Amino acid sequence: MAKEDNHLFFGGVDVVELAERYGTPLYVTDETMLRANIRNYKRTFGKPNTDIDTDIFFAVKANGNLAILKVLAQEGMGADVFSAGELHLTKLAGIPREKILFNGNSKSEDDLRTAVESGVKISVDSRDELSALAAVTDELGKEAAIAIRVNPDVSPAVNPKIATGLKESQFGVPYHEIISVCEEAEQYRNIALKGLHCHIGSQILKLNVFGEAAEKMMNLVEQLHERGMELEFVDLGGGLGIGYSDEDKKIVPTPDDLAEVILPILTDRMNSLGLNLKLILEPGRSIAGTTAILLSHVNAVKPAHKIFVAIDAGFNLLIRPVMYDAYHEVVVANRQNERASTLYTVVGPVCESGDIIAKDRMLPAVKRGDLIAIQDVGAYGFSMSSQYNGRPRCAEVLVNDGTVDLIRSREGIEDLLRTQKVPDRLM
Ligand code: LLP
Repeated sequence: MAKEDNHLFFGGVDVVELAERYGTPLYVTDETMLRANIRNYKRTFGKPNTDIDTDIFFAVKANGNLAILKVLAQEGMGADVFSAGELHLTKLAGIPREKILFNGNSKSEDDLRTAVESGVKISVDSRDELSALAAVTDELGKEAAIAIRVNPDVSPAVNPKIATGLKESQFGVPYHEIISVCEEAEQYRNIALKGLHCHIGSQILKLNVFGEAAEKMMNLVEQLHERGMELEFVDLGGGLGIGYSDEDKKIVPTPDDLAEVILPILTDRMNSLGLNLKLILEPGRSIAGTTAILLSHVNAVKPAHKIFVAIDAGFNLLIRPVMYDAYHEVVVANRQNERASTLYTVVGPVCESGDIIAKDRMLPAVKRGDLIAIQDVGAYGFSMSSQYNGRPRCAEVLVNDGTVDLIRSREGIEDLLRTQKVPDRLM
């Protein structure tokens, strides 16, 4: 990010001009940064001195924009999808079926059918799902390659809403039942058990838990091996955190740090068993998080109990601060060279007192009409947006070394009405 003429530049583009041209709110993604994040992962996990072959499956829930998925496909990424909708987008983007894993703890009959017909790998989350899937494969006469989602019972130090591998969590088969579920899977004619899968949580900054999860997963691999069940892959999920705040930035781990924690464990354990399983990782945030900003105009500055800056984007477009008490840096995009002089609380336009984007931040003196840029919104930003309060969703642009492309149009009022029907008797 460079500063020129008091304006913030992002992806080589003056964001004040972007806001004038496309209006606000506006999500802006930097393609160069996205490609750099992907290549960084690939460099780390593709090093010639590692014995482990790794595939990286982007967690599409973090960002399902089709243009962004196209970039990922071009870079050779696979995809972790959590619904038939995400699967559809991923296929449209050109990600091959061998590199797609269909996840989910609550898959409908239709989901299972779509997954089997598409020929993607399926992560099975329960015994119940396993037998339903077996019935679908028999009916379609088509084999399904599966992983069993393991609940590894490890506890990362993150917001409880995004810790997914605790024994209390609803995801995965309880650890002590894994072997018997795998044995059951072996009984089904059209089910091919190929892997074990886990995902322990998100925004993880202390990586020791990944080591714990890797050990636990390899204990299961070993037990299966002893019983003659040979797998092809172990999927350790996503979860690597990013540096949202200055404090986080001091300790933020890199893909290299993650590799240092998990690869020696996997290599040792596999060597001692004489196995050569593929590793799958499913990063979402650490690929896309830093690659986007959300531009939003100031509608009012109000000195009250605090000095509130009311902007045109709220939790309808970025729910993370409200849902997880998440921190996102905010800057005044048209006052980049001015000194931070005043303490503000930046709030959205939604009719709830919880609609706070940034609490107690020192910013340059802000005026109505100024432009705020909320940072690091490329993961779980637009993908978690809604039309709450009758607010159509905003547009998205992709910037790349000075060029700009619209990658999602702004919704209009007609989009609020598009799927609604009024019974004749009420007309
Ligand atoms: N794999 C599975 C099975 C997942 O459930 C998730 C995220 C990921 C991979 C990707 O995790 P990541 O690398 O992005 O941490 N909305 C929350 C995050 C929810 C994460 C849900 N699962 C947030 O905004 O912080």
